[in-house]
Amino acid sequence: MSDSEAAKTIAIVSGKGGVGKSNISTNLSILLGKENKKVLLFDLDIGMGNIHILLGSHHSYSIMDYIEEKELDIATVICENVHGISYISGGNGLKNIVEWKEKQMERFFEVMEYAIHKYDYILFDMGAGATKETLEFLLAMDEIIVVTTPEPTSITDAYSMMKYIYLRDGEKPFYLLCNRAEFKNEGLQTITRLQETVRKFLHKEIVSLGVLPEDSAVRKAVIHQTPIVVGYPASAMTLSLHTMVHRLTGKRESRDRKGTGFVKTFRKLFFGR
Ligand SMILES: Nc1ncnc2c1ncn2[C@@H]1O[C@H](COP(=O)(O)OP(=O)(O)O)[C@@H](O)[C@H]1O
Ligand SMILES: [Mg+2]
Repeated sequence: MSDSEAAKTIAIVSGKGGVGKSNISTNLSILLGKENKKVLLFDLDIGMGNIHILLGSHHSYSIMDYIEEKELDIATVICENVHGISYISGGNGLKNIVEWKEKQMERFFEVMEYAIHKYDYILFDMGAGATKETLEFLLAMDEIIVVTTPEPTSITDAYSMMKYIYLRDGEKPFYLLCNRAEFKNEGLQTITRLQETVRKFLHKEIVSLGVLPEDSAVRKAVIHQTPIVVGYPASAMTLSLHTMVHRLTGKRESRDRKGTGFVKTFRKLFFGR
């Protein structure tokens, strides 16, 4: 990528927890890596970071270590070359972002400024729900992938979250995917219903990234601490993830990404300057 181009920042979010965000962000990142993209996977699930477990990797430093300890070099928090990607661990002690002091937020910006020109994609695995703490993070992203399952509770929570973000930024591009569909039709119906509801009440179009199947190989992959696209390349889940990655890279650019848009937007949202 050219020097002037910034990484595309994508947040993977959901209304309800346990819908598959961490598995999806991890495996999408690895597949993007296989397409020769430079990918950074950033674990921002507050207090419950588990990306390193899914990757079967251990790294000595987490983002919190950098934010709280002055002497660390930025490069030391980035764990490189794990299944072809880099990642930043959230660690277990990742404190509520709302509790970060201005200095700590500046440290986070330093990491972002460093990473934004080094990678083609930065994927953020977020915690469930759009709370006051994470809304600013989401608003600074180029794109947001909303994950739902066919369960009504997951669907209503996904809608509430999209509405919450929409009320702050009506232009923010959303992509919707349905995970854990027992049948493809069930997933497609879930997406269509949510698209219709958003169109009716928010007058907004959301793009479908498709359906991911309920697949027992996901659980096996988690237990073996080997990402499913690596350990089970022929599984139904892996095949659907491949299709999804092609949709993600194939679509037209939603915004110009030059310079440090992310950090600038972020700074404005947080400090009003
Ligand atoms: N497509 C799927 N098929 C079967 N089980 C799944 C699927 N996606 C997720 N799971 C199960 O759900 C659990 C939670 O997934 P996870 O990615 O940790 O969700 P989140 O990050 O949204 O909390 C996984 O450990 C796995 O057992
Ligand atoms: Mg998670």
